[in-house]
Amino acid sequence: TPVPVITVDGPSGAGKGTISHMLAEHLGWHLLDSGALYRVTGQACLIEGVSWDDHPAVTEVARHLDVRFQVDEHGEVRVAYKGQDVSAAIRTEEGGRGASTVAAIPSVRDALLARQRDFLQPPGLVADGRDMGTVVFPAAPLKFFLTASAAERAERRYKQLISKGGSVSLARLLKDIEERDERDSTRTVSPLVPAKDAIVIDSTATPIEEVFGQVLQAVTESG
Ligand code: C5P
Repeated sequence: TPVPVITVDGPSGAGKGTISHMLAEHLGWHLLDSGALYRVTGQACLIEGVSWDDHPAVTEVARHLDVRFQVDEHGEVRVAYKGQDVSAAIRTEEGGRGASTVAAIPSVRDALLARQRDFLQPPGLVADGRDMGTVVFPAAPLKFFLTASAAERAERRYKQLISKGGSVSLARLLKDIEERDERDSTRTVSPLVPAKDAIVIDSTATPIEEVFGQVLQAVTESG
């Protein structure tokens, strides 16, 4: 029997990461944070002195990406590139820009495809990203697409960054999110669109616990 996979796609800040973590934990399944692979690729380019616009060089970086995910003693996922901890660097706004820039290169997406599918291991996988249900795991029996308004997503990201002691401007965040949405949904390869068979959940006015309740209900109903 095939290993089960549940896909969770959507724009940044829609609650995908949180929902995917909760679901993977609840089911005792593995978790693929595909955005982190693109973020590490962008970061690796900075480290290797490769410009994000140099498509052949970025593709080489993606192909040989020496990346490791490890849960630390606080239960946090640490991400290492060539043994160097890049967890904080990849979560910055620049990290997000780098990720979405390299993610628009078709050969980079190809280079990361097999690596993403390697995460499909028993007893199951929750796959978080933009094209999990459309490209990477198109045969997944259960697909979610989480969304929320850009303003709401910017607000959530703002609170998150402030609570971590950062200082950011809400207007700047909103602009970043809108630009990233635009890049992600208009690119020619794997644009951000819901799979035809995805369950779409808009969380603009719904607390995350309630969204998780809806997700769990669909999981239970799907058997
Ligand atoms: O999910 P996260 O915000 O970490 O993703 C960072 C960027 O990586 C996204 O803005 C998107 O451009 C890209 N990405 C992608 N396909 C995925 C996951 C992320 O293109 N499956």
